[in-house]
Amino acid sequence: MADQHPLSPEGPIPPAVLALRWEEPPEGPVLVLLDQTRLPAEEVDLVCTDVPALVEAIRSLAVRGAPLLGIAGAYGVALAAARGFDVDEAADALAHARPTAVNLAYGVRRAAAAYQAAIREGADDAQAAAVALAEARALHREDAEASDRMAAHGQALLDELLPAGGHRILTHCNTGALVSGGEGTALAVVKAVHRAGQLRRLWVDETRPLLQGARLTAYEAARAGMAYTLLTDNAAGSLFAAGEVDAVLIGADRIAADGSVANKVGSYPLAVLARYHHVPFVVVAPTTTVDPATPHGAAIEVEQRPGHEVTDITIPYVPAVGHVAGTGVPVAPLGTQAHNPAFDVTPPELVTAIVTEHGAVSPVTADGIAELCSRSRSG
Ligand code: MRU
Repeated sequence: MADQHPLSPEGPIPPAVLALRWEEPPEGPVLVLLDQTRLPAEEVDLVCTDVPALVEAIRSLAVRGAPLLGIAGAYGVALAAARGFDVDEAADALAHARPTAVNLAYGVRRAAAAYQAAIREGADDAQAAAVALAEARALHREDAEASDRMAAHGQALLDELLPAGGHRILTHCNTGALVSGGEGTALAVVKAVHRAGQLRRLWVDETRPLLQGARLTAYEAARAGMAYTLLTDNAAGSLFAAGEVDAVLIGADRIAADGSVANKVGSYPLAVLARYHHVPFVVVAPTTTVDPATPHGAAIEVEQRPGHEVTDITIPYVPAVGHVAGTGVPVAPLGTQAHNPAFDVTPPELVTAIVTEHGAVSPVTADGIAELCSRSRSG
């Protein structure tokens, strides 16, 4: 990891962000996470030697974002298997660490199913653990490939929807290399547009209360050399009214069978604003984020997070103060109740297009979603 502050103008240009990696030191295999609670102040590794540590890392958002949660969950199963823990128990704990991003349960299920199939076929524990690890690696690689394809499809879609000459794109939360095996989902598209010289400005919502936009998207945008501007979530409306937004690009944590999109809280108001101002609202997500078993938006479980994230300004890591989980600077009277859903749900009729690794669906309909998923199943 770089010794200097990652955003220091004098510092070397750091390598591409690697959000997690599997390592096998002599003491035994570990899953190493780039601790996202400490970005952008510090690039610090969080080494998980067991599943409870990984579950805590997921809950505290040290590792986060739908596709990466799936990858982490799959490696978590491999970790349990390699270290001789109960794989079923580990899979259950991991799959339920956070409820909304369907990728988490998907990744866990894939690695656990591979492990169990190997055992049924007569593999010993070590051989089955190797099979689980191979499955996690396969998911990691597939996600990186999906990211590349989404970037290409998303860029082509924007070329169709917007006039040439430089796009002003607004994004919410963080959807880049910090959530993915590759360059990300929505932010991968933005990076492709930037590389093609077509990004006039990236508007970055700060994303209250945990500031994934300010801390993480701005961090990735700065590293990529993009022209970006940070705004409070509340400032988006006046930006649309001033005609300063050409398109909204966001990711998704779960897409229901009818095309309803659960994503970071604050996404739905952006969709309403975009519709009012006739601006395309585009969701970018791999098909692993589509959950055919969830029929519609109301059936999506939205994670409720602790109230102190709202009543206190809880910057997860404050270098000057040190890291004290769950504490911050109080901004409300003691005892104030807070409403803190981590996600909201945007109905399909407000979504201009959903871009996946298999192409875009627009308008967003249940049939269109089902067709994309069938392309995914047929490889
Ligand atoms: O609570 P987080 O930080 O895990 O939420 C992440 C998001 O909402 C992302 O926008 C979402 O996972 C889509 S990016 C793949």
